[in-house]
This record gives sequence, C-alpha cells and structure tokens, in this order.
Amino acid sequence: MDEASIYTIIGEDGFRRLVAGFYGQVPDDDILGRMYPANELAAAEQRLRDFLIYRFGGPQRYIEERGHPRLRARHFPFQIDQAARDRWMQLMNKALTDAALPIEVEQFLRAFFEQMSTFIINQESPVRRS
Ligand code: HEM
Repeated sequence: MDEASIYTIIGEDGFRRLVAGFYGQVPDDDILGRMYPANELAAAEQRLRDFLIYRFGGPQRYIEERGHPRLRARHFPFQIDQAARDRWMQLMNKALTDAALPIEVEQFLRAFFEQMSTFIINQESPVRRS
C-alpha cells in the first residue's frame, strides 16, 4: 500500500487513538514507565502522534516544531536494549489491536514499528550468567 495514503484512510483520529492506547500503558510499565518523563507524558504523546501523522501523509506539524526527526540520535539519551525494544513493541502491538484500524493499515504499521524499534536499539543486552 502507498504509505502516504494512511493519513487519508485513518485520519487524525486514527493516530490519536493509536498513540493514546500506547501511552496509556506506559506509566504502569516496569521498564518503560521510568524511562518516559512522568510530567511530560502528554507532550511526549503529542510528539509521537505528530511524527506519525507527518510520516504517513498528514500535516507537517512535527517538522515545524521539532525539525528533522533524527530518531536514532534523539533516543541516545535513553538506554534501549533488546528488552526495552521488545516491551515497546508489545505495548504498541496491543495499541494497534485495540485501535481496530483497517487491517491493511494495521499490518503496514506493525511492520514499520518492528523495523524502526530494532533500528533504535542503542545498548547491548546485559550478559546473562547462569
Ligand atoms: C525501541 C523502543 C523505544 C523506546 C524505549 C522509546 C523511548 C522513547 C522515549 C523515552 C522518548 C522521550 C519521550 C519524549 O519526551 O518525547 C521517546 C521519544 C520519541 N520516540 Fe521513542 N522509543 C522507542 C521506539 C520508537 C519508535 C519505534 C518510534 C517511531 C516509530 C519512536 C518515536 C519517537 C518520537 C517521534 C519521539 C519524540 C522525539 C522528539 O521530537 O523529541 N520511538 N522515545
């Protein structure tokens, strides 16, 4: 599917529901809860929503406010290993299911998030000793 058409299909409201579903799970999460700034969650929610809207064919608000996304670099302040990445995907996969978007959009976004979240890993997982 043409990724720029996603905004036309699900609109502002689709992205709003998806990202709200994700952030609603963050505060109680034992890995991500302490990573996201508690007093800035609403602003963080807006940044992810605006980014996705810009990335998938909607208004360019994210670029106007934040400039080029440089997503990997913007995540350097956070320690993101495989476990954090997998948890992020788990929350996002639940949000995707709950948002009940058209199936072709859901599948496209799932694949996009899988790839991006792996790209954002910036720490080795701790070595497990038995
Ligand atoms: C791999 C697991 C990930 C973790 C643990 C993580 C964590 C975080 C944290 C803690 C922030 C700071 C919250 C804020 O103040 O905005 C953030 C920001 C952000 N994240 Fe992630 N993230 C992950 C993956 C992703 C993915 C896959 C995307 C995009 C598809 C993404 C997009 C963003 C955006 C757009 C921002 C705001 C950047 C800015 O403009 O400052 N993140 N992330």
